[in-house]
Amino acid sequence: MIKICMTEDVPEREARAFDTESGDTMFVTQRDGIFYAYQNLCPHLQTELEFLENQFLDQDREYIECSTHGALFVVETGECIAGPCMGESLQAIKIKVHSDGGIYLD
Ligand code: FES
Repeated sequence: MIKICMTEDVPEREARAFDTESGDTMFVTQRDGIFYAYQNLCPHLQTELEFLENQFLDQDREYIECSTHGALFVVETGECIAGPCMGESLQAIKIKVHSDGGIYLD
């Protein structure tokens, strides 16, 4: 089992980036007590989403936002609902929260 981080590393309505074993980055965010993880890759131009460190959410912390052209993605599904890649989705990464408080790759 590969541990990504602890639940307290990702507060509600915040997001954190982590390196993957393949050298890519992923990020984890929390919404209503549930954790979601996605590859850090915008489906529009295959670029990383954030401009500033760990800034994956829009100003209202409602959607995941790509800093390049402002595409908005639903936190729970990764689906793009506004911007140049509307209808496409972020690549979800399966994770599991274990009783030790750790978030692991599933
Ligand atoms: S690269 Fe993400 S919206 Fe264009």
